[in-house]
Amino acid sequence: MPRIFSGIQPSGELHIGNYLGAVKNWVALQHQHESFFCIVNYHAITIAFAPDELRRRTRDMAISLLASGLDPARCVVFVQSDVPEHTELAWIFNTITPLGELERQVQFKDKAGRQEQVMAGLLNYPVLQAADILLYLADIVPVGEDQVQHLELSRVVARNWNARFSPDTPFFPEPQAKLTPTRRIAGLDGQAKMSKSIGNTIGLLEPPAVIWDKLRPVVTDPARQRKTDAGDPEKCPVIYPLHKAFSPAETVTQVETNCRGAGWGCIECKKVLHANMEAELVPIQVRAAELHSTPALVDDLLADGGRRARAVARTTIDAVRDRMGLDARSVRAAGVTP
Ligand code: TYM
Repeated sequence: MPRIFSGIQPSGELHIGNYLGAVKNWVALQHQHESFFCIVNYHAITIAFAPDELRRRTRDMAISLLASGLDPARCVVFVQSDVPEHTELAWIFNTITPLGELERQVQFKDKAGRQEQVMAGLLNYPVLQAADILLYLADIVPVGEDQVQHLELSRVVARNWNARFSPDTPFFPEPQAKLTPTRRIAGLDGQAKMSKSIGNTIGLLEPPAVIWDKLRPVVTDPARQRKTDAGDPEKCPVIYPLHKAFSPAETVTQVETNCRGAGWGCIECKKVLHANMEAELVPIQVRAAELHSTPALVDDLLADGGRRARAVARTTIDAVRDRMGLDARSVRAAGVTP
């Protein structure tokens, strides 16, 4: 059975770009595949951060994921730093990854441009991502569109390592990205992708009134200056795609007819969207509030996820070390299980 792996940074609250581009898909896929979902706190420390905030955000992200529907009885939800094998494999992969592959990563160039000083960890970020995925020998990686280039690098890493250390039967699979129709959700500005670092997000746990205050001023088709002007939903960069994600198919058809025929004004159209978002998000928000009141339970679930992930990770690392001549002499001699 194909195995699934995906990750998310604990960079504050889950936003609806993460939710629609990735997490909603994870919730569906956990029923069909053996799945590992990781809160990637080692990735989060490649740019400036505050330790206490990172700790809080890590748990908050776990709460958002569980509230969205990830079920620890069906998948493994864990924190990256609870499984040190991620960094071990990343180091190994650093030794077989050409520098040029890393320097041409769009996300690196983007993020590096916003840093005062660029640390080596930011450049090596996608190598750690390859280690995350390949540690679990995952075949399928459900992500949004912005991660596709990183996934290509993961395939290069798998190929390079296999060619060098497992040439006859490839040890690592070449993982494939799995995208959804909502692979790129635009931010509230209608231009950039929705992203915490740009500050154009709708948070999954924001109260409906706050979401409405954000939706109301959002740009729509510029041709619709007045309610009586006909519009084109394809030119509506935020509201129409969100209708397609949150509204039933009949409503999406109504939106198209009423936009083209100037039947609804944009505010009316936004109100319909808001009601459908509220219907999907409020139950998640209720579950999140419950989990917030039981932090020890969340920590226990994560600890258990870490143990389950680590058991798989150990098996992979042992095989990798063996094929590379990196035997764990001192540990074995002491009779300690690494
Ligand atoms: P991150 O934390 O930025 O985002 C988590 C997931 O959300 C998707 N996403 C979006 N999808 C659609 N529209 C948007 N506006 C949008 N914004 C974010 C992302 O594509 C991603 O799937 N490098 C990764 C984390 C990572 C990872 C991994 C992912 C580390 N190791 C291994 C997969 C496998 C990242 O920063 O995602």
